[in-house]
Amino acid sequence: MPTPKRTILALSPLLAPEMSRLDERFHTVRLYNESDPEKTLQAIRNDVVGIVSTTSTPIRKSLMEALPNLEIIAQSAVGTDNIDLDMAKSRGVRVTNTPDVLTDDTADIAVSLLLALSRRICEADMYVRVGKWQGGSMPLGVTPKGKTVGIVGLGRIGKAIAKRLVAFDMRIVYHGRKPKPDLAWPYYKDLREMAEICDYLVLSCPGGPETHNIVNADVLHALGPKGYLINVARGSVVDEPALVDALTNKVIAGAGLDVYAHEPNVPDVLKGMDNVVLLPHIGSATVETRTIMGEIVLANLEAHFSGKPLITPVV
Ligand code: DGY
Repeated sequence: MPTPKRTILALSPLLAPEMSRLDERFHTVRLYNESDPEKTLQAIRNDVVGIVSTTSTPIRKSLMEALPNLEIIAQSAVGTDNIDLDMAKSRGVRVTNTPDVLTDDTADIAVSLLLALSRRICEADMYVRVGKWQGGSMPLGVTPKGKTVGIVGLGRIGKAIAKRLVAFDMRIVYHGRKPKPDLAWPYYKDLREMAEICDYLVLSCPGGPETHNIVNADVLHALGPKGYLINVARGSVVDEPALVDALTNKVIAGAGLDVYAHEPNVPDVLKGMDNVVLLPHIGSATVETRTIMGEIVLANLEAHFSGKPLITPVV
């Protein structure tokens, strides 16, 4: 008799070809398709040995405790701030992510937001569509060339953003936990101090307790009425009510956001502002990158259940 397939709980889907490959190898339970997820979870809780996830679903203590035979969480994202890593460690649950492969696409989104804000791309598109071109002139944008960009978190994605912005003749400064001696760009230990000299503040740091709300009212005031905030990191990095307040009261010039404090919910007031560009967390959302991310998830599961070293372990 063939051995029964191991059960994997999918909290979010991979792309269809990778989901098919997952089905070939495992018994996949798509919790996101279940009409009563709690009931399904109760029915399979002892069978689940692996989870496939993205950053959109929290994997905290209660879920891990509900799955006594859980061995691995294969996350399709570089960030793992939705996962209680300490709990995973203490339970001996392995965690993997998908680093590197989404760096360029996420950096492209940061640059797209910076350009869209500076050159009023979304407003201009609407201007043409609603027939305003015939009757008036668009307000002018601002040129990025020669301006200062402060990058918060000069890791893989931050460096890829910096590399792109150097090509736009922008001046780079950065803030993070530590200076990077191999990089010539000026380092600021104090985020507020850096914001004061920046025209753009670009967030590309990890989420989690260390960066929670580090962009607060104070930092936004320092960025000032000509400054733009761009966030491709995590919504948790920004004090969102303070940001709404700063935009409403013209404390800063505008914001380009791919991430929010309570995704997929975006504060309604932001949707009515034309100095704000809003994206639905699409940093890694290309066919090519999502395909590779799915392949890494599969490769990690395969490695784990064949007793081989994990490809991209976090825990
Ligand atoms: C990541 O990989 O962490 C991106 O933000 C997508 O969730």
